[in-house]
Amino acid sequence: MDPIPYRRETPGTQPPALSPEYRSTVLRSPRKPLIVLPHTLSEVTGPIFGRDRLQPNDADLTAQHKERPIGDRMIVAGRVIDENDRPVAGTLVEIWQANSAGRYFHPRDSRDAPLDPNFTGGGRTITDAQGNYRFITIKPGYYPWENHPNAWRPAHIHFSLFGPAFATRLVTQMYFSGDPLIPLDPILGGVPDPAARLRLVSSLDLESSRPEWALAYRFDIVLRGHAATPMEG
Ligand SMILES: [Fe+2]
Repeated sequence: MDPIPYRRETPGTQPPALSPEYRSTVLRSPRKPLIVLPHTLSEVTGPIFGRDRLQPNDADLTAQHKERPIGDRMIVAGRVIDENDRPVAGTLVEIWQANSAGRYFHPRDSRDAPLDPNFTGGGRTITDAQGNYRFITIKPGYYPWENHPNAWRPAHIHFSLFGPAFATRLVTQMYFSGDPLIPLDPILGGVPDPAARLRLVSSLDLESSRPEWALAYRFDIVLRGHAATPMEG
């Protein structure tokens, strides 16, 4: 049996491999025409990360250490859906982010900002039957990067989604509405269609917030079609 090839993306919804304003893409984008590698059954059927592998606080990034981390606690939730608004259930959703001072818990991040001993910044969960996912975390801070002089990233959370196989991994970033750094960001700006760029910006969801405890932000992820969420190549 030949597996069905993955569908091509809708033009304009995804950033091109080469986006010169985003400096790293200059070196890493392909120079030669792409070759189609037909995938085999094993690449589209597994392995699958099961719910039994989740740890109790994987989806609560504020409860993974002894104390609560410093920062604005928030709920980040949404649905993973296909182009026909059908839920995508059982998808592994992973996030990683900087702490509230804009520093990653990672050996390669040694910038002059404090680490928080109570915040590692990594979480994971699996979508339920309706495609819902939900994390509790803190608002990430801004951080500088070396893309161009005085470049700062808008506040963002990295997302990775796995479907039924490793070959189905998708990676993207979620932003916050009203962030003044958004129009200056060459990563977000690399998405050609302005409407598609907006789909990476979460919205404040007061109804899902918990009064006196945490605000909620909604970020739905559409896997393909004309309303597809932009993903990193
Ligand atoms: Fe980042």
